[in-house]
Amino acid sequence: MLPARHFLNLAMLGACLGLGIQFMGGGGLQPLLLMTAIAALLGVHLVMGIGGADMPVVISMLNSYSGWAAAAAGFMLSNDLLIITGALVGSSGAILSYIMCKAMNRSFISVILGGFGAGAGSSAAKSNEPVGEAKSVTTEGAVELLENAKSVIIVPGYGMAVAQAQHPIAEITKELRDQGIKVRFGIHPVAGRLPGHMNVLLAEANVPYDIVLEMDEINEDFPETDVVLVIGANDTVNPSAMEDPGSPIAGMPVLEVWKAKTVIVMKRSMASGYAGVENPLFYKENALMLFGDARKNSDAIVGQLSALIAAR
Ligand code: TAP
Repeated sequence: MLPARHFLNLAMLGACLGLGIQFMGGGGLQPLLLMTAIAALLGVHLVMGIGGADMPVVISMLNSYSGWAAAAAGFMLSNDLLIITGALVGSSGAILSYIMCKAMNRSFISVILGGFGAGAGSSAAKSNEPVGEAKSVTTEGAVELLENAKSVIIVPGYGMAVAQAQHPIAEITKELRDQGIKVRFGIHPVAGRLPGHMNVLLAEANVPYDIVLEMDEINEDFPETDVVLVIGANDTVNPSAMEDPGSPIAGMPVLEVWKAKTVIVMKRSMASGYAGVENPLFYKENALMLFGDARKNSDAIVGQLSALIAAR
């Protein structure tokens, strides 16, 4: 982040407009080339100030801009098809950005203006380093915890989609429900990489709709839950969004999984998620890490759970 970055952006915008007028007035190729170079710089500078949870919004906004640019080119070339397709790409990108902003409690205008009003350094600010030690658990330990629970909430994230673990997860759900255990899913509005990403995967694996709940519907139930199984989710369950005002994801609503008795987090390492922010959840007293590929571990859990139930 450069000092006086908003002023720099405004100056570059002014220069582009001035050069545009010069070009239209017959100024030749030179003002056009200069304007192209300044516009490229402006694009980089505007985006570099944005970070953390705002990154997906920026990406879909850039997508949207490309659509508007295509529509503008359509007007210049009198090409109706280009106008229509450009407007479709432009408006769908803008709608997606708006939905994501709402889900993450961000102001749309402040995100697209490069974090304007968010306070200098907010995206570059480092969150507090988590303290404590992460504890790991084996699939056998996870099965024991699940089997002895009365109420379980499964929180899927992008990692479930990468590992394609929705089918064994659906089987785990069925086995546990057959044992009389209350199993539900908690879905964050921006879990995965598309709106509704998790819902589509769970529907594909035939998980009943009525146990798949939105964040707002399930967030109050975590304190009464015995086990939360987090599968490849990270940013959407990060307590620093609520506990650390200096965090790049501060203010984003998250699933409050740490309020449950035990949280099992399935992921391959201690690496951060999409927003690149450390997650203090992994170091909480009641959190257990189940390291490894979500698909392999889920398959192992299904196998062990079935064997345990069959042996009864
Ligand atoms: P993320 O924060 O992206 O975290 C996903 C985690 O999955 C990673 O930390 C990764 O940890 C783990 N993982 C990856 N592959 C795995 C595998 N094969 N097995 C097990 N774990 C695996 O996920 P999230 O909680 O779903 O959050 C979504 C993020 O994406 C948010 O920051 C959101 O803003 C952003 N985003 C969302 C959208 C929409 S519209 N949904 C669009 C663009 C971006 P390891 O590497 O340690 O395994």
